[in-house]
Amino acid sequence: MKIIDSLRDGYEILKTNKISSYKIDCEILMSQTLNISREEVLLNLEENIKKEEKERYFNLINRRKKNEPIAYITKKRDFWKNNFITNKNVLIPRPDSEHLVEQALIIIKKDQAKRILDIGVGSGCLSISILNERLNCKCDAIDLSKNALKLAKINANLHQLLNRIKFYKRDVDNFYNDKYDLIISNPPYINKHKIKYLGTINYEPKIALDGGLDGLEVIRKVISKSKCLLKKNGKLILEIGYDQKYKVINYLKENNFFVNKTIKDYGNNFRCIVSTKIY
Ligand SMILES: C[S@@+](CC[C@H](N)C(=O)[O-])C[C@H]1O[C@@H](n2cnc3c(N)ncnc32)[C@H](O)[C@@H]1O
Repeated sequence: MKIIDSLRDGYEILKTNKISSYKIDCEILMSQTLNISREEVLLNLEENIKKEEKERYFNLINRRKKNEPIAYITKKRDFWKNNFITNKNVLIPRPDSEHLVEQALIIIKKDQAKRILDIGVGSGCLSISILNERLNCKCDAIDLSKNALKLAKINANLHQLLNRIKFYKRDVDNFYNDKYDLIISNPPYINKHKIKYLGTINYEPKIALDGGLDGLEVIRKVISKSKCLLKKNGKLILEIGYDQKYKVINYLKENNFFVNKTIKDYGNNFRCIVSTKIY
């Protein structure tokens, strides 16, 4: 069977199962099967694939047709300027979270040596992306999930950053350490009862999504803890849910933070808040 014929059959299967990204997904899964780039797949459409390759490809298509995220099937995801290994123990890095990296890089100038804390490190995508561009900075990273930390360490190793990131398995509530110049956090912020309506997100770990009854339980913990962990004038960069801006701003103000700016995501929702601990 030719590559083009397998691709077409894959398109049909995914389309029938309402996977809107069916075309690119089939090409990615073919590139994964043949261990070549997507560009190479497209340049070799008339080539034949072996029987066992075809079998492997359709196994992947069958997983995707059940809505399993492509990043869990291929075990990798691009984020910012880097590639990260992903698995079912971590939230898949989202383009919207790149705003946190962008804001961190605005705050920390190129040769500054700042101490950063990443609360809820997950795959490590935020702190690794920042450390890759701020060579004099060091980062502590905490997460409740042992398995997420395991993967974050693998990613840190891949980016040769194990000497600049320290990992702690800790609830943010129970983390006591030195003072930091910058805290970044993309905490779980989905309302507990709404998680089940979120489609493919249901493959991702609940611990990375569940923000309690009002979606703000972990965000509140992060803010009150950051008040103690930040140096005076230290910055907190937070990712929030699309409808949480005003509640989070109020909570920040009650905790003596000055709100510097709010940033919208690619879907025009308020997604990121930068604030400063004033005293
Ligand atoms: C939304 S994910 C973010 C992962 C990664 N930072 C990113 O931006 O893709 C939230 C992470 O916070 C962790 N987490 C949840 N509750 C926590 C808590 N109370 N203390 C520390 N980490 C927590 C989860 O295990 C998960 O890895």
